[in-house]
Amino acid sequence: MKKLYIETLGCAMNLLDSEHMIAELREKENFSLTDDVKEADLILINTCSVREKPERKLFSEIGQFSKIKKEGAKIGVCGCSASHMGEEILKRAKSVSFVLGARNTSKITKIIHQDRAVEIDTSFDDSTYMFARDSQNNLKKMINISIGCDKSCTYCIVPYTRGEEISIPKNLILDEAKRARDLGAKEILLLGQNVNNYGRRFSDGSRGENFTALLRDISEIDGVERIRFVSPHPLHMDDEFIDEFAKNKKVCKFIHIPLQSGSNKILGMMKRGYSKEWFLDRVERIRERAEDVAFGTDIIVGFPGESEEDFEESMDVLERVRFEQLFSFVYSPRPHTGAINLKDIEIDSQIAKARLERLQNRHKEILDEISLKELGKIHEVYFESIDEEGYLEGRSDTNKNIKAKGSRDLVGEIESVKIVKTSRVKLFGEIV
Ligand code: SAH
Ligand code: SF4
Ligand code: F3S
Repeated sequence: MKKLYIETLGCAMNLLDSEHMIAELREKENFSLTDDVKEADLILINTCSVREKPERKLFSEIGQFSKIKKEGAKIGVCGCSASHMGEEILKRAKSVSFVLGARNTSKITKIIHQDRAVEIDTSFDDSTYMFARDSQNNLKKMINISIGCDKSCTYCIVPYTRGEEISIPKNLILDEAKRARDLGAKEILLLGQNVNNYGRRFSDGSRGENFTALLRDISEIDGVERIRFVSPHPLHMDDEFIDEFAKNKKVCKFIHIPLQSGSNKILGMMKRGYSKEWFLDRVERIRERAEDVAFGTDIIVGFPGESEEDFEESMDVLERVRFEQLFSFVYSPRPHTGAINLKDIEIDSQIAKARLERLQNRHKEILDEISLKELGKIHEVYFESIDEEGYLEGRSDTNKNIKAKGSRDLVGEIESVKIVKTSRVKLFGEIV
């Protein structure tokens, strides 16, 4: 068997692309995974280009791999940086054998036999590709429901790297969910850049499906107990979707709604298509209908033109919604994006960093306040692992990370756990 070493640097979608490539290489090319780069015959770097800093590291990493790799081993650069840098990667790094863009992962078994090849076609229709046949974790299954993105948020490179948005046919999604269930998955995680825009365009031109119906259909599969999804776009959160989210018992009551900014001026400049008021209205509607729901979000600070008042608007939304999960970033200018033209109003990096720190510090306090209130509460926890001391670990319906003592046969089971000890990121409980 040949050995494959793979490094995944991006989001859940990149992770799924990696799983897909691993499965293809295992099935069709007789590869097995290794975590020792020195013994690999093939080294894949699955890159992310959403921010500049990690992207800069790519070339030093290629340099390191090429020094320690086995004689004859190939290095391939895949993912979003591959999509937008293409040929340039080959020019700058002589040791790279091929470049495979994010929209082209299903071509992996072909490109490994080529030398100095580039496949970065973002109009390639990858929407009916074979789903990854073996995933790293059989208890939870990630399923792509769409590829690409048809928005044009002015800070974001993803539409450029992943191409136009195409939904994956519903029958393929349902078959994949059933197959995952047969392998032991009680939880399905639906992936897309705008999951709730599902059904807008299929590659055969058909329309007429929507995300709410997809959620309902998946929830009818016996044995699938939990459905999560990431990310819904605030703009497409219609009442029908919120009502289904709230009342469908299998849909987990944690929702990640990317805010990006609380300022209407900045939201407009970002071309997000909604206002602060709309966002808060959606949150309120969800809260009214779904008891004990938890929220997550993404916030960018220091977008060009962001004044102190604009930033305060983001702080205000944090305060009102009290997000339990926050991914926050300093704005990073990216090529092929609208905001790249706003150089003259870019925010000083020290000011942006200070704002990020304020936001994150306040968020930590909020998390502490939230976790203290957890004492005595009972959560349904899906246990995914057990450590050497006999502590099971898993997530609640509301996505809280919870540990409890128990036996190995409870891995893969959903149990009621009463919280007896709390910390900012983890809760400890007893199975009741
Ligand atoms: N489709 C998802 C986001 C995908 S990118 C959505 O619409 O929410 C993941 C996150 O990276 C974004 O939510 C955003 O917060 C962040 N991000 C994207 N481009 C960025 C940039 N240029 N600088 C800083 N953060 C960025
Ligand atoms: Fe990027 Fe916006 Fe598309 Fe999300 S919706 S991937 S932020 S362009
Ligand atoms: Fe994901 Fe990064 Fe691409 S966030 S979509 S891997 S740019």
